[in-house]
Amino acid sequence: MRIFWQDSMALGVPTLDAEHRQLVSLLDSFCVILRYRNLEAAGRAFREFSQAALAHLANEEQLIAQFAHDGAERHLDVHGRTREVIGRLGAAIFDHRDLAAAERLAGEIISTWIRALLSEDVVLAARLKRAVRAQ
Ligand SMILES: [Fe+2]
Ligand SMILES: [Fe+2]
Repeated sequence: MRIFWQDSMALGVPTLDAEHRQLVSLLDSFCVILRYRNLEAAGRAFREFSQAALAHLANEEQLIAQFAHDGAERHLDVHGRTREVIGRLGAAIFDHRDLAAAERLAGEIISTWIRALLSEDVVLAARLKRAVRAQ
């Protein structure tokens, strides 16, 4: 499975859009590298993606705490589940050395989490834009 940035994914908050764009690109590279069935290369690509993804979730959580705390439970829940899938993906590569499982989990991130993540992020972006306008 592959994933490409689409303009429809943009939320209109430049920092978030830049991070999302980078995540989409790192996740796609990881998916491509998985096809070569090279455990070491897959591990490197996974590390790059997962570090960026975890840093992004933490960045957003800081923004949520600052500007969008109320009603953020669902968003935080999606982040928690995303961390869980990323953890399973890391275990598939580094503990089980199972690239077929890694491919399935990467596909799961693309089909489920990216959609859920971006739909929760739409709400966050709207609140951030409102906070900026109110300044
Ligand atoms: Fe998010
Ligand atoms: Fe996000």
